Amino acid sequence: MNALRSRPDRGDRSDRHADVPRAGGEGAARDFEFTSADFERIRALIHRRAGISLSDHKRDMAYSRLARRLRALGLDTFRDYLDELEKRNDANEWEAFTNALTTNLTAFFREAHHFPILADFVKRRTQPVSVWCSAASTGEEPYSIAMTLIESLGERAARESRVLATDLDTQVLAKADAGVYAYDQVKHLSPERLKRFFLKGTGSHAGLVKVRPELRQMIKFEQLNLTDADYGLRQTFDAIFCRNVMIYFDKPTQAQVLTRFEPLMKPDGLLFAGHSENFTYVTQAFRLRGQTVYELTRGRAAAATSTATAVKPGAKTEPLGATV
Ligand SMILES: C[S@@+](CC[C@H](N)C(=O)[O-])C[C@H]1O[C@@H](n2cnc3c(N)ncnc32)[C@H](O)[C@@H]1O
Repeated sequence: MNALRSRPDRGDRSDRHADVPRAGGEGAARDFEFTSADFERIRALIHRRAGISLSDHKRDMAYSRLARRLRALGLDTFRDYLDELEKRNDANEWEAFTNALTTNLTAFFREAHHFPILADFVKRRTQPVSVWCSAASTGEEPYSIAMTLIESLGERAARESRVLATDLDTQVLAKADAGVYAYDQVKHLSPERLKRFFLKGTGSHAGLVKVRPELRQMIKFEQLNLTDADYGLRQTFDAIFCRNVMIYFDKPTQAQVLTRFEPLMKPDGLLFAGHSENFTYVTQAFRLRGQTVYELTRGRAAAATSTATAVKPGAKTEPLGATV
């Protein structure tokens, strides 16, 4: 039996917000043997389960995060753990396995240039607007979207709009749902935003903030795996945020996800990507409008056709693509 067997899994998620292993954390001395075969097996399983491609340099990360599962379950080897996982096929353990291997780095108004684009865009859309945040992590991104809708459309129209926030990881969704954050995470926001959208914790909650109920009520949080064949969504969206998750997928998986997004976008809808994500080489269904914002290729063509047929000669028209 391993000496660390009785230690509980404290569910410490601090490293989950880092994209690279931390010195002294991931990569520190190992309690369990971790073979190349173990890592290859983990890679194959998480790819099948979540589309995530773990590169070689994620080996320490995989060890560190899953070693916690071995400790929590009192297992001595990765091989035993992976055998159990596959043999028992227990939904809860699969969830823990998947949750352990996601990286959830996010922030309020991350990649800030997208939010004025969204603000401007939604003003020009038929109301109520609908936005899907498809890798919502701990909620900072959908709350930033909801704040932008309120600031841009006003409380009433924003309340009627729909913000769907989904993620594969159930632990991050629970945190997003609670809407409680350390003050440090919001201190860079303007005093107006802080006052309008957050409640400040006092007493035992000092140092924490909670999103105001009005903001929380605008968002529906749900689990959704972007690699599922059918997302079960029966509505279309004015905007889809899919930021900083495609980087974890290989090209065929990215292409599949974009194919599934296509029918879920309203014509002339916008797709927001992360700063290092380029969909141009993956699909012809979307094209870059600028600043990592994409639009449907057919959307613009369809709009051009309908403008040509529907607009009376001499009527004032706005140039297509003027919204970004
Ligand atoms: C690095 S975070 C990005 C969060 C946010 N979009 C942002 O840009 O700040 C990536 C998120 O994608 C989620 N994720 C990974 N694989 C997924 C999948 N197959 N389906 C849905 N979400 C997934 C992770 O759980 C994680 O919360």
